[in-house]
Amino acid sequence: MNKEQEGLREALCTLGNGYFATRGAAEEAEADDVHYPGTYLAGSYNRLKSEVAGKTLENEDLVNWPNWLQLSFRLDGDKNWFRLEEKQVLDYRQELDFSEGILRREMHFKDKKHRETKITSTRLVSMANPHLACIKWEFTPVNWSGPVMMRSALDGSVKNEGVKRYKALSSKHLKIIEQGKTNDIIYLLVQTNQSRIYMAQAARCHVYSGNKKLRTNREILEEEGKISERFSFQASQGKTVTIEKIISVSSSKDRAINEPLNSSLETLRNELDFSALKARHSEAWSRLWKQFDITLKSPGNSQLLLRLHIFHLLQTSSMHTIGRDVGIPARGWHGEAYRGHIFWDELFIFPLLNYRLPDLTHSLLLYRYYRLGAAKKLAEKEGLKGAMFPWQSGSSGREESQVIHLNPKSGKWLPDHTYLQRHVNLAIAYNIWQYYEVTADRNFMKFYGAEMLLEIAHFFASITTWSEFRQRYEIRNVVGPDEFHTAYPGSDEPGINNNAYTNVMTSWLFSHAKKAFELIGTTRQEALKQKLKLDDREFSKWEEISRKLYVPFIKEGIIAQFEGYEQLPEFDWEAYREKYQSIQRLDRILNAEGDSVNCYKASKQADVLMLFYLFSAEELVQLFKDMGYQFNPERIPDNIEYYVSRTSDGSTLSRIVRSWVEARSDRECAWHCFREAIVSDFEDVQGGTTPEGIHMGSMAGTVDILQRCFTGLEVRDNVLRLNPYFPEEITSLGMEINYRGVWLSLEFSGNQCRIKSRDGAASPVKIKFRDQLFEIKGKMIKTISY
Ligand code: BGC
Repeated sequence: MNKEQEGLREALCTLGNGYFATRGAAEEAEADDVHYPGTYLAGSYNRLKSEVAGKTLENEDLVNWPNWLQLSFRLDGDKNWFRLEEKQVLDYRQELDFSEGILRREMHFKDKKHRETKITSTRLVSMANPHLACIKWEFTPVNWSGPVMMRSALDGSVKNEGVKRYKALSSKHLKIIEQGKTNDIIYLLVQTNQSRIYMAQAARCHVYSGNKKLRTNREILEEEGKISERFSFQASQGKTVTIEKIISVSSSKDRAINEPLNSSLETLRNELDFSALKARHSEAWSRLWKQFDITLKSPGNSQLLLRLHIFHLLQTSSMHTIGRDVGIPARGWHGEAYRGHIFWDELFIFPLLNYRLPDLTHSLLLYRYYRLGAAKKLAEKEGLKGAMFPWQSGSSGREESQVIHLNPKSGKWLPDHTYLQRHVNLAIAYNIWQYYEVTADRNFMKFYGAEMLLEIAHFFASITTWSEFRQRYEIRNVVGPDEFHTAYPGSDEPGINNNAYTNVMTSWLFSHAKKAFELIGTTRQEALKQKLKLDDREFSKWEEISRKLYVPFIKEGIIAQFEGYEQLPEFDWEAYREKYQSIQRLDRILNAEGDSVNCYKASKQADVLMLFYLFSAEELVQLFKDMGYQFNPERIPDNIEYYVSRTSDGSTLSRIVRSWVEARSDRECAWHCFREAIVSDFEDVQGGTTPEGIHMGSMAGTVDILQRCFTGLEVRDNVLRLNPYFPEEITSLGMEINYRGVWLSLEFSGNQCRIKSRDGAASPVKIKFRDQLFEIKGKMIKTISY
């Protein structure tokens, strides 16, 4: 077993169900330098104050809840409880089965007394009942017989210690409220010490020899914050004994609940064995896979990784997430990096959900809607109008971005101005519109979507300023998607001016806020006008700003990332690539050298290129035209070339965008970037970030490249469009999508596309395959050669 990779294995082997998730840590392990058994409840945060660098900081963290995995044993004469590291490992294999959501570990080891033992551990976190999980150990003495003492525990003494960089910060989030036993169940009730969320866990172990349940002598042990039970049995050489640990989890954030401890005990009482639980769990996964699987024929492991990504998306957010007032975290519920916060990464994630489980996108958008009040307060605090959603969002919708961060390269704490990424609001607006296009859910627009769009538009109207000199509107002091540029060189004032992506998207926002307003009917229009204090003058102002927003250009046809970008000196990429093993986090490198990345034409991630990612050439030309600029789409490849050579890809999102924007002009390059993106978590290309949590945006984004980019799938003007253009490496692709309530199966193979409406379209839907427009009605199959 490779110790260095254990953290990565734990993150990638996390099991979850959209309600809670547990890292794939060994049952016998405790948090140490190698292992980190974290358990996270979706959307459960707690705030703690810490003293660092002479400041008192308050951070809101995703809480690491009690470790329910603990299971270990001791043989006659052993002082210590079993830890694999202390044995001679003869064979070890760890296997994650995504089709059924099962984690398996097979161990064969020998102790100092030459006793060889085999253990096969099988684990699941139920996708059928989100409150249940279980572990089965098949325990076989290979060359010995004798008594075995087992220990099973629920450990509430855990802290948040999953990210080394946060070590100086407070980490104890849990208070123990109650622990004990009832019949054959042990339980633990804990509460977060600030947000006062309760979680109850209950566990029961049964021991079997074949089908026969063994009677064991049990002993209960209570330590501070930890409840354990010990039980012993007689093991005989070559005979397998099975230990089943079933646990239940409830929290005070649950629906339809009286009290968490009662609830978890009740849930567990009804569950008797692993195999019944596993059968229901597998069925639930197989239903999900029917909707979410994408089949791909291409060389290498792309199909496998694609499924790994879909698997982790569904473990983070599933039907069990719907209605729970949680958002979708940038790093999954798989680790503590970025503290479980919600960023703009939704932009890369929602398209998969829109076409398969739109109720889930609906629920995730409501997470934003419920924080509209908080977003309005944030705007008001800055003397602005409308709603300003925070860059990092957690429980209440206040800004959760840290104000200083640790540069692990220099050991210094630095101010963090990334919170100035106001474009997160544009992503929310764009997601609302996309959800509407795919679902035509007018009710959502009426009651929630339009209000958010209007409030965001109101906010952007209030941060734009008129430049007499330019005779145009400007947006100053922001940070664009590229987080390297947070200020002008030498300036104390944070932010840069006229980030092209922000400005173009803002123009798009104004026209779409208006479109949304037109969709909701006069009664709701009047109500919203009154509630949001909007009048026709404000609407005309938006239209005026939308037409006159300033977009900086470097030279004809090449968009400047922000105003003044062209004046920055070039960065010596070659020298730094030679000097450092990885220059993805150039900001930290330069800072440790006493320099600043703000001083160079060097970006962390796609910024201008985001425009080509979100809009087709046609749409972009129109957008620029509406803003009074002529944009020649033939210059798109020049823009791509310009920025790709000046980007370090320090965010995993960057390669997604690169693959996407190259797809129509350079298929070979698109495939190459796609491959780089698809391995980024599996191979932990950032060298240590994946163990702290997977990159949800990049995982979902790679799947979406297949779903929408290579197939040319988009919805515009009530028409579902397809315009496939695959890299040569892809010989066939198949998927199911749900478009406006109709399940369509799409298969691309050779130069043929087969569209099948699976269960009969309730009402006809319009499809345009390149120039061919047709309708799908009822059950039908349409084959197109192209
Ligand atoms: C990226 C952001 C992203 C965040 C969370 C950062 O490294 O620069 O674009 O939103 O990670 O994934």
